[in-house]
Amino acid sequence: MQRLTTIAEVRAAVGEARRAGGRVALVPTMGALHEGHLALVREAASDADLTVVSIFVNPTQFDRPDDLAAYPRDLEGDEGQLAELGDLAPDVVFAPEVAEVYPRPSVTRVTVRGLTDRLCGASRPGHFDGVATVCTKLFSIVQPDLAVFGRKDFQQLAVIRRVVADLDLPVEVVGAPTVREPDGLAMSSRNRRLGPAERRSALCLSRALRAGVAVARAGRAGGGPIDAVRVANEVGGTLSAAPGVTVDYVEVLDPETLAPPDATSRGQAGDGSPEAQQQLLVAVAADVGPVRLIDNVVLGDTEDEERLLAATS
Ligand code: PAF
Repeated sequence: MQRLTTIAEVRAAVGEARRAGGRVALVPTMGALHEGHLALVREAASDADLTVVSIFVNPTQFDRPDDLAAYPRDLEGDEGQLAELGDLAPDVVFAPEVAEVYPRPSVTRVTVRGLTDRLCGASRPGHFDGVATVCTKLFSIVQPDLAVFGRKDFQQLAVIRRVVADLDLPVEVVGAPTVREPDGLAMSSRNRRLGPAERRSALCLSRALRAGVAVARAGRAGGGPIDAVRVANEVGGTLSAAPGVTVDYVEVLDPETLAPPDATSRGQAGDGSPEAQQQLLVAVAADVGPVRLIDNVVLGDTEDEERLLAATS
């Protein structure tokens, strides 16, 4: 595993692998790695000959300077965790300085309309422009065959997929399941900023989503469609009951369009036939003390529901 800090070095390393016929994978991260990131790296490395993990706290996606300043940074610790992956450790850690990625005031932005109107896009102005722009730059620098992102950042994954589709970028985008602590908390680099009481309160996000799954399952057992309003009320009620938690949003949306399910489709998946399992994204965001956390589940995606329910709190 080698640490590279310049674009030229990364291009040289990737070019060499590619000339040898190798398949290249990229896992973009902002560091402060945890088991969720390591799962992405394992997934990438098991499907590639050369794996690049980028570690770059991207300033253009932070809407609050205090959030950028407080974002945890631990490059040595990150590299230690990656090395422990053994055979599945990445070949390259790309850890550039800000001036390497943004050598001049940049006037070019990648903006994805529509998909960014709601959820985090509504409460973090400019955030997804920053994410879409830096990911497009990373795709251009590394030119990976595949790039792996976590489904915890569901809207981010949808935005990246759309960038790749709209700009005809030759990269396969893979979405990997959310990794949870045994008590249900979705793993996040931000979790390490939670104090003990906040850590307990933070469990309300996954607890609220489980309450949403219970409502959906009761609806399905009764043979009807999922009642999105009831799900939202149940999830919102559970979140609001937790101490020290300020709810940003509770949304029940079509997982494809990230818009409210319309009366006719009601969020149906697949070909829209009556047999197709209805799918609805339930996404939540809340400030727990000073820490902003997000989580989601796709109702009707049995594996996603089961992974969430497997947690015990
Ligand atoms: O999910 C993240 O860590 C970041 O948004 C990403 C995709 C690395 C872009 O900076």
